[in-house]
Amino acid sequence: MSQPFDIVVIGAGPGGYIAAIRAAQLGFNVACVDDWTRADGKPAPGGACTNVGCIPSKALLQSSENFERAGHSFADHGIAIDGLAIDVAKMLARKDRIVAQNNDGILFLFRKNKVTLFQGRGRIAGRDGERWTVAVDGPGAAELAATHVIVATGSLPRALPGIVFDNLRVLDNSGALAIAEVPKRLGVIGAGVIGLELGSVWRRLGAEVTILEALPGLLPAADEAVAKEALRAFTRQGLAMRFGVTVGGVDVRSDGVDVAWRDADGTDHRDGFDRLIVSIGRVPTTAGLGAADIGLALDARGFVDVDAECRTNLPNVWAIGDVVRGPMLAHKAEEEGVAVAERIAGQHPDVDFGTVPWVIYTAPEIAWVGRTERELRGSGVDVRAGSFPFSANARARAMGETTGFVKIVADAASDRVLGMHVVGPMAGELVEEGVVAMEFGAASEDLARICHAHPTLSEATHEAALAVDRRSLNA
Ligand code: FAD
Ligand code: NAI
Repeated sequence: MSQPFDIVVIGAGPGGYIAAIRAAQLGFNVACVDDWTRADGKPAPGGACTNVGCIPSKALLQSSENFERAGHSFADHGIAIDGLAIDVAKMLARKDRIVAQNNDGILFLFRKNKVTLFQGRGRIAGRDGERWTVAVDGPGAAELAATHVIVATGSLPRALPGIVFDNLRVLDNSGALAIAEVPKRLGVIGAGVIGLELGSVWRRLGAEVTILEALPGLLPAADEAVAKEALRAFTRQGLAMRFGVTVGGVDVRSDGVDVAWRDADGTDHRDGFDRLIVSIGRVPTTAGLGAADIGLALDARGFVDVDAECRTNLPNVWAIGDVVRGPMLAHKAEEEGVAVAERIAGQHPDVDFGTVPWVIYTAPEIAWVGRTERELRGSGVDVRAGSFPFSANARARAMGETTGFVKIVADAASDRVLGMHVVGPMAGELVEEGVVAMEFGAASEDLARICHAHPTLSEATHEAALAVDRRSLNA
């Protein structure tokens, strides 16, 4: 006998759990099915983001940043430290506690909003009259009947062809977040977001890190000047970055990994590492969902095919987050989750990918929203851009964080803000001012005329806005 629900959400990552909560707030009877399980068998809602993504990576970035500051910049403040050491086991245990707090937080929110969690793997088994049947396999085995199904099954790490993640020597994001001791030599394939963030973590703790990247340069989606400044900073810190690389072969030994690769000039190299992180993107998770059996359409790259409003080809089946097109970001998944719940309730929300911010939590931090100057000029838009360096910002100097700048790009005719690009301290917090400006259709002149507190990092945004009109006051 199936248990009836208005909405069954498959997946409790940031897309799924937020969709479930919003749907419950709107008065629906909601179930959420998720298979992530803790070592003790308890459910671990929160998906890749909470368990092996956003949250644990930020915990380790903070720990390793503290260690690096204590070792390198505290002396400047007159703070002397003798016998500085890192206890990796303790650092990892702290990270695990933070993850568990987040899992527990979601369980609490489900109870508070009366969302029923079924622990196990969900499969859309078919249609019975007006309702879909969802079979749950696992500790919370059940058969559910749902008027609407929201697929929020997320993504998994992409492997190099023929190279299996053993998470001993060849690590995916889960393995890279749980290395028991600092490797002497760490190889990273892919200089994308994970490669930069996790490469930075282990470099700060003492590993010699080499990043092998196929593309000819760093972060092609970022503003050119931002990518250049970031590359300079990472190189200065000691991250060895190789671009235009073709990986030839990976030989896994019991005590390490050898990587054969060819550089952009065609010269062959072979490097030995203690561990190798492979971070070359992620692939949508649709295995076991029953897509083929029920005729759920996937696109050519294996993502669940959806329209702009997250509708699939099947009636009342929706899909959101990493398993569908668009940026693979937690906040994008959340926005889609809220929007789908509201659409089911008959509302008309909108998710604008043009104002989804990107943040890379390295030091310096990198963040942007909207389009780059080059992209806009390339598509024939006449723009004016203004930048302001943190070296001329009083708060940044007091913090000792003077690398980087804020850049604002505005339409030359209307002055409307079309992009904001930041490399430097707290870039991820600062960029939100650009998001708000763009959402409200603000002009750079609006930002230039808004009072910003002194001394704050946000004054760099104010000055960058003034610089669009060539009237910076402090540079
Ligand atoms: P997921 O978080 O992948 O959740 C899907 C859930 O569904 C999982 O629990 C999965 O086990 C479950 N599931 C799958 N199939 C089934 C099934 N058939 N039945 C039951 N359950 C199922 N994004 C940011 O915005 N900021 C960051 O700082 C950031 N850092 C990251 C760091 C790393 C190392 C990684 C790997 C990713 C990071 N991301 C970050 C990306 C972010 O984690 C994803 O965009 C986000 O988790 C996608 O959310 P989702 O809900 O679509 O899917
Ligand atoms: P990515 O797409 O960011 O970067 C992958 C990199 O690997 C690219 O630069 C690509 O050119 C390179 N590459 C691909 N194949 C290669 C090969 N064979 N040899 C060498 N280089 C190769 O993917 P990544 O870092 O795995 O992260 C996956 C996604 O997770 C990100 O795109 C992002 O959406 C999300 N994420 C977000 C974070 C954040 O918001 N701060 C942090 C970490 C991940």
